[in-house]
Amino acid sequence: MKPINVGLLGIGTVGGGTWTVLSRNQEEITRRAGRPIQITAVADRNTALAQSIVGDKARVTADAFDVVRDPNIDIVVELIGGYTIAKELVLAAIENGKHVVTANKALLAVHGNEIFAAAQKKGVVVAFEAAVAGGIPIIKALREGLTANRIQWIAGIINGTTNFILSEMRDKGLAFADVLKEAQRLGYAEADPTFDIEGVDAAHKATIMSAIAFGIPVQFDKAYVEGITKLEASDIKYAEQLGYRIKLLGIAKRRDAGIELRVHPTLIPAKRLIANVEGAMNAVLVNSDAVGATLYYGKGAGAEPTASAVIADLVDVTRLHAADPNHRVPHLAFQADQLKDLPVLPIDDVQTAYYLRMRVEDKTGVLADITRILADGDISIDALLQREPAEGEQQTDIILLTHQAVEKNVNAAIARIESLKTVVGKVTKIRLEELN
Ligand code: HSE
Repeated sequence: MKPINVGLLGIGTVGGGTWTVLSRNQEEITRRAGRPIQITAVADRNTALAQSIVGDKARVTADAFDVVRDPNIDIVVELIGGYTIAKELVLAAIENGKHVVTANKALLAVHGNEIFAAAQKKGVVVAFEAAVAGGIPIIKALREGLTANRIQWIAGIINGTTNFILSEMRDKGLAFADVLKEAQRLGYAEADPTFDIEGVDAAHKATIMSAIAFGIPVQFDKAYVEGITKLEASDIKYAEQLGYRIKLLGIAKRRDAGIELRVHPTLIPAKRLIANVEGAMNAVLVNSDAVGATLYYGKGAGAEPTASAVIADLVDVTRLHAADPNHRVPHLAFQADQLKDLPVLPIDDVQTAYYLRMRVEDKTGVLADITRILADGDISIDALLQREPAEGEQQTDIILLTHQAVEKNVNAAIARIESLKTVVGKVTKIRLEELN
């Protein structure tokens, strides 16, 4: 059988892993794909490194455009990352009639609509299993395995860096900044960790999942994004005393009025399986009407786990290479002309439960004032924790868990609580999801 020829753009961690796994498992992969899949061209700025990996098995160039224009290449694998050159390369590959496999979540979350439309027009595939949760086949599950279902919500731990930091903060009772430094030293966090710790990377992934789950265009600009940088060790401790863990969740939820799309630190019950996903591991919990809850767990990053997803896409594309474009699995799970323009709801309209921590003077009537304000805002209290003041202290912490409430009502109540003379400083608000 004639081999399918792949052009690899970027032979760093994931590209190197793709080369290794494809070489190691070549025989089985060929038996699955129906024809050999071979990387015949590699583009990387570091040509010496690329050459040392591929030897004489593929041609090496520093010019990625040379690969996307190469008439012998059937599939381009884009592992460069970022929005600029990567976008030009992907669009050029599509224009040249090549299928594309990419791990680039940022590119698809921001420019996916344009890229998928271009691919649709050209009759080529853009596959992106590696873009969300690394080696976990969550795109396959959402797009194909759960296709009978009306998906209600998705909640995912989809950033390993932040999950590692949160696990360490909880385990060792350390502050965010100290754990971040340690994570950087160990190589778990990048030198510039902004995208991870500010929730942007998780929001890219949640955006992609929301599109596939609900049949809507990708709308990263509408996502609410809050990272873990302001999280305090004391909140992790209080959450634990109340039976919860704090995780950075990417959430996409169907509501009557539209879709909630949000990333933020979230209290989740410690007894849920997903609450026990620790370290750099990822997990995605999907709630659908027919099957109920399904949970997908595994490595969300790293050379071979991500290569596993890249190669799965290569096999899929190889199998469907000659198929009528109209009979392929649609990019966003729903037929391109069947996407809905359901609005992504502003964070003010989100409904969830809340953890509220406030520092108060230890005086008669303080709690009554606070609960009155919450009742006025139609916010019902689910649990309450009051720490006994330490010896000689005049102030103490009150922690409240609310039932489901509308975010703007909670914010209004917080403003009123903060204006009480007996409340010291700001109220800390963390959203809470029961995930049941
Ligand atoms: N930086 C990501 C993480 C991996 O920490 O999970 C790639 O998406």
